[in-house]
Amino acid sequence: MCGIVGYAGKGEAALKVFSGLEQLEYRGYDSAGIAVSDGHKINIVKKCGRVRLLKARLNQLTGGVGIGHTRWATHGKPSDVNAHPHASGAVVVVHNGILENYSELKNSLSAAGARFVSETDSEVIAASINAAYSRGNCNFCAEPNLCDPSAPHALLRALHTSAQTFKGSYALMVMCEGFEGFAVARFKSPVIVGAGDDGFYCASDEPALAGSCSSVYALQDGEYALITPSGIRLYDCDLSPVERKFSPNRARSAAFDLCGNDRYMIKEICESPAAVKNTVSAFASAEGDIDGIRRADRFIFLGCGTAYHAALMGKIYLERFARATTEAEYAGEFRYKDPVLTPRSAVIAVTQSGETADTVEAAKLAKTLGARVIAVTNSPRSEITRVADAVVPVEAGTEICVAATKSYSGQLVALYMLAKRLAGESFSEICALPDALGKVIKSADICALADMCARASGVYFLGRNADYALALEGSLKMREVTYIAGGGYPAGELKHGTLALIDENTVSVFIITDGELASKSATAAEQVLSRGGKVAIVTCCKGIAAAFAGRAETVEIPDLGKYLTPVLAATVLQKLAYRTAVILGRDPDKPRHLAKSVTVE
Ligand code: M6R
Repeated sequence: MCGIVGYAGKGEAALKVFSGLEQLEYRGYDSAGIAVSDGHKINIVKKCGRVRLLKARLNQLTGGVGIGHTRWATHGKPSDVNAHPHASGAVVVVHNGILENYSELKNSLSAAGARFVSETDSEVIAASINAAYSRGNCNFCAEPNLCDPSAPHALLRALHTSAQTFKGSYALMVMCEGFEGFAVARFKSPVIVGAGDDGFYCASDEPALAGSCSSVYALQDGEYALITPSGIRLYDCDLSPVERKFSPNRARSAAFDLCGNDRYMIKEICESPAAVKNTVSAFASAEGDIDGIRRADRFIFLGCGTAYHAALMGKIYLERFARATTEAEYAGEFRYKDPVLTPRSAVIAVTQSGETADTVEAAKLAKTLGARVIAVTNSPRSEITRVADAVVPVEAGTEICVAATKSYSGQLVALYMLAKRLAGESFSEICALPDALGKVIKSADICALADMCARASGVYFLGRNADYALALEGSLKMREVTYIAGGGYPAGELKHGTLALIDENTVSVFIITDGELASKSATAAEQVLSRGGKVAIVTCCKGIAAAFAGRAETVEIPDLGKYLTPVLAATVLQKLAYRTAVILGRDPDKPRHLAKSVTVE
């Protein structure tokens, strides 16, 4: 959450940082701001709202060194004053993360004379670094003359000194007047550095540098960097200089091209067949000892949001194929429940970004308790890959839309293949999936159903077993991009309470991809109809479609068997959510209050 970008070089920093921020906006879009040094003074423009609002003011920023921020508000409402960068004295800061002890630090800095104008924790970071910088206070340097604040490294030393007092998470870029460069620190929030043809860059993630840097290095926790127009210098946690290997930037600027589509969400839904195909091809290159977990006596699938819904499907696959003892849990619940794990437990952490704080911390906890951890991720150099013993790649490509679509399809097939492999079974049947998916995406007609949903007071999604996992995901997608209330429920649970919600203004979408359970879900659909609720059915079962013809909106999909048909149904639900959002005039790419990578608790 929150995106930060920095640049030092021969180009105009304002333009470079602005374009990086536009590419990072999916990490937060409550406000945006840029600071650029003109060689003497640091000028700042910032504004509540989207990055594009800064464009008209970029001419106020001239110079080759700058930093910028796009915010997902944690402390303090979205407003101009709470927007980053935050300045204190000569120091200017952008921050992604949460300073947990900000209140305590704020009190002691206030007592020492610091003044604060915003409600943010990040302004406290600026004040703390400014205090260390003004003191020339340097725990690192034993030689007093090197502690001269005007020496180039003084800023880095002040950052280092202050960072020792920070509790929480941070990716920080810090400028100060009189120094043509910026210092970078990282702890639990991602940040990468890269060299381009025209200067040196730093950003929250690789897509922001797609097109500018062909190779990048992801800072590790506790590492520092100093970036100037002459280069990038890296330091370890004691500020000793270190050399690190840069790797190719996998993000492609093509990911930002809408290719004629109105929105990234529909573009990315249409990229699902390629995501599936590439994930299948990449499975052979999974890193680490996957088969090592065959000896596990218990498997726990973890994730948040959509990734949790994929984890639920992973549980179903492994239970059915390997008859193993499996569970699926929200990572944020798992990490706080004092879990019982042994060295014979295996944790499978599912995360598109690989940076979701709850999932990463849950995986770390599992490791400390002796469990083996497998990551299923779309981000090969992310934090989760450093924690995991093995990585199963999802090759969905960069996903810009906040709502996960193609990455979910990729996660489902990665989990399907993993379960088959652990069960010692082949999975050649999966080769039919990309084509079938492409056809469903083109042909599924959800327009009438979307019109019905757009007029509804509530939209509910129901199914059994795998279709229940899909119902949860269908509901999340609908809620997050349309803001229509609703939920996902097991079809059999309806009569135990949820039926009370049904009236003529509600739509209940039944997902029926498992022929063996079709008649059971159909009974629940009848119960909704008989109480005046509107019903829709997404099914591969011809008999069901016929039975509800004229009484419910039906969307028919091909039958690829009960474990792969859900992948087809998932894209129908994604299209439905997208279309409904468009009818309601919502922005499905950037739903209100949300951000793509949830790197804070
Ligand atoms: O990057 P992750 O897969 O770990 O993200 C987890 C959730 O935040 C994410 O799936 C979220 O629920 C989706 N954006 C919803 O579409």
